[in-house]
Amino acid sequence: MRACERSSREKSDYEEMDLSNLGDIISKHKDHTGVLIPVLQEAQKEYGYLSEGIIEKIAGELKLPLSQVYGVVTFYSQFRLKPHGKHTIKVCMGTACHVSGAQEITGSIATKLGVETGGTTKDGKFTLEAVACLGCCGLAPVMMVDDETYGRLTSQKALKAVRQYKKKDKEEGD
Ligand code: FES
Repeated sequence: MRACERSSREKSDYEEMDLSNLGDIISKHKDHTGVLIPVLQEAQKEYGYLSEGIIEKIAGELKLPLSQVYGVVTFYSQFRLKPHGKHTIKVCMGTACHVSGAQEITGSIATKLGVETGGTTKDGKFTLEAVACLGCCGLAPVMMVDDETYGRLTSQKALKAVRQYKKKDKEEGD
């Protein structure tokens, strides 16, 4: 039963995503050595994440075992197996941030956006992540939204920052 469910999910993955550009990406790199990582990187750039369908097609076209491709995708943190939001919120859970209330901040954001840590909002706008030390412990508690760092946070400040991204997207018609 489980296998049937998986199989139909994979099928819909193929059907829902237009993978026509993936062929071009693979062809561009095919004859080079060390081709797998560049292909995965470009595929993720094109589709936002690496679906089962994408991984299977890459493995098939490059004549690599599926397990090898999955091994690379799961080894490197740069690769994503799930759809990712337009904006990434990374709340630091390192020691300094943890003792300064990072958990509460994460909870506030999660509640406000209606998403669990590690998940993406239904509208595809935000992915919420809990991460290890972001390297600016003196500003604890810290979060990053995309490339922007926010320090000495409170829940209110964090939610205000998130609202600004929503507002900007709206102004840009997104
Ligand atoms: S512990 Fe949060 S930035 Fe270092």
